[in-house]
Amino acid sequence: MLSTLRTLLNKFMGLIFLFSLVFYSQSVFANTYTDSAHGSSSYGVERTAWTAPYVPGNCAHCHEQHTAEADGHLLIANSFSDVLTQPYVTSTTACFACHAGITGSLQNNPFNNYDYSATFGGASATTSNIMAAFNQPSYHNLNDVKRYITGYSGTKSFSNFPAETNPCSGCHNVHIARANKRYPGHPTFTAISRPSDHENLWGDEEDNTSELMTSYGSAYQPPIRSGSNLEPDGVSSSRVIQAAKTPNYNALCIDCHNSTNIIYSTTLGRNLLTFNWSLEVHGQGEAHDWYAEQEILPPYSDSNLGNYVLSCMDCHEPHGSPNTLLIRSRVNGSTVVMPPGSSYWNELCKSCHLAASELQNFHHKTRLEADYSCTDCHYSDKPNADPVSLKPCYPCHHHGSSTGGFKTF
Ligand code: HEC
Ligand code: HEC
Ligand code: HEC
Ligand code: HEC
Ligand code: HEC
Ligand code: HEC
Ligand code: HEC
Ligand code: HEC
Repeated sequence: MLSTLRTLLNKFMGLIFLFSLVFYSQSVFANTYTDSAHGSSSYGVERTAWTAPYVPGNCAHCHEQHTAEADGHLLIANSFSDVLTQPYVTSTTACFACHAGITGSLQNNPFNNYDYSATFGGASATTSNIMAAFNQPSYHNLNDVKRYITGYSGTKSFSNFPAETNPCSGCHNVHIARANKRYPGHPTFTAISRPSDHENLWGDEEDNTSELMTSYGSAYQPPIRSGSNLEPDGVSSSRVIQAAKTPNYNALCIDCHNSTNIIYSTTLGRNLLTFNWSLEVHGQGEAHDWYAEQEILPPYSDSNLGNYVLSCMDCHEPHGSPNTLLIRSRVNGSTVVMPPGSSYWNELCKSCHLAASELQNFHHKTRLEADYSCTDCHYSDKPNADPVSLKPCYPCHHHGSSTGGFKTF
């Protein structure tokens, strides 16, 4: 009898809860939840334990009215456990309760999320779910992101996220995020929201070019995906067509990573370099066709050097990577192996610039102009042909290094 009463009460309270959520949803994200990946009635949220009575996409697959963890969001698990570093486990965040792969997911019919290099770059995936992506050797530290966006540390140029905000919310809005992976050529299905505009998707406004990489005019050249076909979906070799399929990821990243924001990194044990993308050569700064030699590889062309603007995602993963500093495992159609500790960055640079022997020519000519000594680049002033004779590239090439006499990044 008592248990029947409780069941009834639960159902009643549940109704009130869901009603208030739906009411709330109408004012905040009315038209978009049902279009979102989670809200999809075919592939959206559906916990194995609740395939009945809740249909796929129902809010209650994520929100509990009674048994929820007490961190303010009435979620199925802690929104975020405040763990300082890796390893992340399924209880670290409610997101990993489902985004944890085939085993360990609460989702009925678990699904895969590959890394950016695979989904949009044609690589073999290094990971197939988001938790695994964040458990790789380099990663966006979730506690640092949470502390940063909620104002516990650093300085930022967007308004506050409330104290217990989920760290993933720095780049996603869980109630509206869509499944771009299902339609990689259709940015209307974008998964991201900028921290400065959390209530809206970013990349979906096709008539608002600032949301796409076409906002840089003809400057954005999507890199090779395979053969001569370009990212993001690899169905065309046309720069114009492919750039118009790519969300303006720079605007997302630059909301946090710019010339003024102070951001602390636990992994690196220091504040991050600050830099102004509009001054860097890979950004809006102008490279020049330096010597009468071929400098750049397809699809880029020497005659257009100085006009290119890259996307952060041409070189970086958003979540984690086997390579240092979130460098992608495949860049411009080439595999890049550069684990943490690597100092020979030509493994990355040579995906787009000419290979090491040409680098030698460039650097030896540059030496004369810049008045470098041999030991600015080599450990000894009698270097040999062994690349280990080279010092790390870092002191000369890094974000923020384009402001000197030479534009080096
Ligand atoms: C109850 C299970 C569940 C939880 C909890 C969950 N997700 Fe999802 N998520 C899904 C499913 C299912 C999809 C759709 C997968 C697909 O498209 O194949 C999805 C899709 C997404 C997408 C769109 C990309 C895609 O693969 O379709 C994003 C972004 C996303 N989730 C982020 C989050 C974040 C951030 C959290 C935590 C705040 C979270 N999810 C929590 C089940 C869940
Ligand atoms: C620093 C920004 C950032 C943070 C923080 C972040 N993401 Fe992402 N996420 C991105 C970007 C950029 C993409 C690439 C867009 C895409 O895949 O459609 C992405 C893609 C995704 C996708 C779709 C992957 C696919 O299959 O294409 C899911 C799911 C996702 N993120 C979940 C999460 C979860 C869960 C968290 C927190 C544990 C999180 N993200 C934190 C930026 C971020
Ligand atoms: C919401 C704020 C935010 C956004 C947006 C953001 N980041 Fe970060 N990023 C951080 C924080 C906080 C750190 C320091 C923690 C860390 O090092 O993991 C960081 C660190 C990094 C690092 C150093 C990681 C390491 O420790 O090796 C790289 C690289 C990076 N971000 C690239 C990107 C790229 C590329 C984007 C766009 C997809 C992006 N970030 C978007 C907040 C953000
Ligand atoms: C995939 C899991 C998921 C689904 C599905 C989901 N939510 Fe949420 N909801 C969250 C998370 C995570 C937060 C906390 C977000 C944060 O901290 O940034 C949240 C927060 C909220 C909040 C508090 C306001 C806020 O942003 O903190 C309300 C209200 C809410 N959700 C209503 C709903 C309604 C209504 C639905 C269905 C229409 C729904 N949610 C579906 C995960 C989900
Ligand atoms: C041409 C490839 C390339 C592009 C494009 C690129 N990066 Fe990087 N990024 C690197 C390399 C290499 C490093 C390591 C050197 C360094 O730390 O600056 C790095 C490091 C970083 C770091 C860590 C800085 C630190 O403190 O050591 C952040 C943050 C970052 N990138 C963000 C971005 C953002 C945001 C964008 C887009 C606006 C971007 N990157 C575009 C190659 C690239
Ligand atoms: C995804 C392709 C890509 C990768 C990877 C890449 N670059 Fe570049 N780089 C370019 C493009 C394109 C330009 C021309 C930019 C312009 O037109 O303003 C350029 C320009 C430069 C310049 C200016 C050259 C000049 O003559 O003015 C330097 C220096 C440079 N890159 C260094 C590097 C280093 C160092 C690395 C590796 C750590 C690297 N790049 C990785 C694409 C790339
Ligand atoms: C601005 C950086 C820079 C400076 C300064 C520099 N080098 Fe190099 N050097 C390079 C690079 C890059 C390579 C190519 C390394 C590789 O192929 O792995 C190289 C390669 C070499 C090699 C190997 C040649 C071969 O046949 O493989 C020798 C020898 C060498 N340098 C001698 C010198 C001497 C002597 C000086 C001083 C007069 C000097 N370098 C100054 C960057 C520099
Ligand atoms: C002592 C400083 C110094 C060091 C160390 C150094 N470089 Fe450079 N590098 C330069 C300068 C200066 C340029 C010419 C920039 C310009 O054209 O304005 C350059 C140009 C480049 C370019 C662009 C060539 C082009 O297409 O125009 C690449 C790629 C590059 N370096 C890679 C590397 C790599 C890889 C390393 C480490 C193995 C390295 N550099 C070490 C100073 C340095």
